[in-house]
Amino acid sequence: MTSRPQVRADLALRAGYHSPQIDVDVRLNTNEAPTSLPEAFDAALAEAIADIAWNRYPDRAATELRAKIGDRYGRSADELFVANGSNEVLQTILLTFGGAGRTAAVFEPTYAMHGQIGKATATTVIEGARADDFSLDLDEVERIVDQHQPHVVFMCTPNNPTGVVDPPDTVDRVLEIMSGTNGLLVVDEAYGQFAETSAVDKVGADVPMVVSRTFSKTWSMAAARLGYLIGPEWIVDELYKVVLPYHLDAFKQLAGSIALDFHDAMDAQVEKIVSERQRVMAQMSDLPVEVWPSGANFFLFKAHDMAGDDLWQGLIEHSVLVRNTANWPRLENCLRVTIGTPEENDAFLVAVRNVLQA
Ligand SMILES: Cc1ncc(COP(=O)(O)O)c(C=O)c1O
Repeated sequence: MTSRPQVRADLALRAGYHSPQIDVDVRLNTNEAPTSLPEAFDAALAEAIADIAWNRYPDRAATELRAKIGDRYGRSADELFVANGSNEVLQTILLTFGGAGRTAAVFEPTYAMHGQIGKATATTVIEGARADDFSLDLDEVERIVDQHQPHVVFMCTPNNPTGVVDPPDTVDRVLEIMSGTNGLLVVDEAYGQFAETSAVDKVGADVPMVVSRTFSKTWSMAAARLGYLIGPEWIVDELYKVVLPYHLDAFKQLAGSIALDFHDAMDAQVEKIVSERQRVMAQMSDLPVEVWPSGANFFLFKAHDMAGDDLWQGLIEHSVLVRNTANWPRLENCLRVTIGTPEENDAFLVAVRNVLQA
């Protein structure tokens, strides 16, 4: 009889994190950018590839890429940690500051990977609850921090999957609540560019906080898997001690670095997505649905009189794929839709109208 190695007991019952990749005409389920970078990016990258020394390990410190990202924020490269998507940024944070015998607090409903990575890194995840309108409830933060003194506290603003943006002073309040606990505040700003406020300016040598961002949403580079955080230099140093050596390949470093030269195109795309978000949400107000406010490139909604699963299936039949969050805790019957191109958004609106026969 063959023996099977057993998965760690604390992981054995976990389901993986999946978003179905279904073949449809309009894919609005994973909050990607609707279009690729300009063709000039492809050309510049193709030319630069010729200079890669494929027989050599890449620049371990990703010097150029970190310096160029830092320039966008008026920060030095030493305040930048770069990894394979912001998921790897979050994982490295928990490998470094979480782990066995340590705790991380999340406020649900929020980005499911915070809890998932917590569990994978053997960090004990403490679940607090958001307020009824999905804003961060500071009394609840205080309760959780007082009770558990978490080593890591996650905020997510704009929050996924609700889209809600916390007011700028929420970060200050959470830092105040955490003061004296030696905890690290992680502000996940994967959708930060679509919102009007950010915590990046609050990063400082004596502030126990990091802000993570990604190339996946605004930079049209989900395929590359590239994310980063801005934080105090000493925290960045600790993260580099833990992450695998040469974790960021030469091709990716180059792609990220060249993409940054196309910041005008990126800024224009963000502006367009924000105005499309306003247009689509305004049109939703004529339909029998509830829509939550959003500062991201997606929004959450639910039909007054139709089950979320049925609405999701109806949209699939119109070849429109959105994220089905209908069975997630506290999101009963809710769906999340990404803002796409104007044509994709129109297809979505027509499909919702048809399915609801509104
Ligand atoms: C809030 C949030 N953080 C982080 C990520 C991870 O992004 P990536 O690993 O593509 O950078 C996502 C992706 O959906 C997200 O929604």
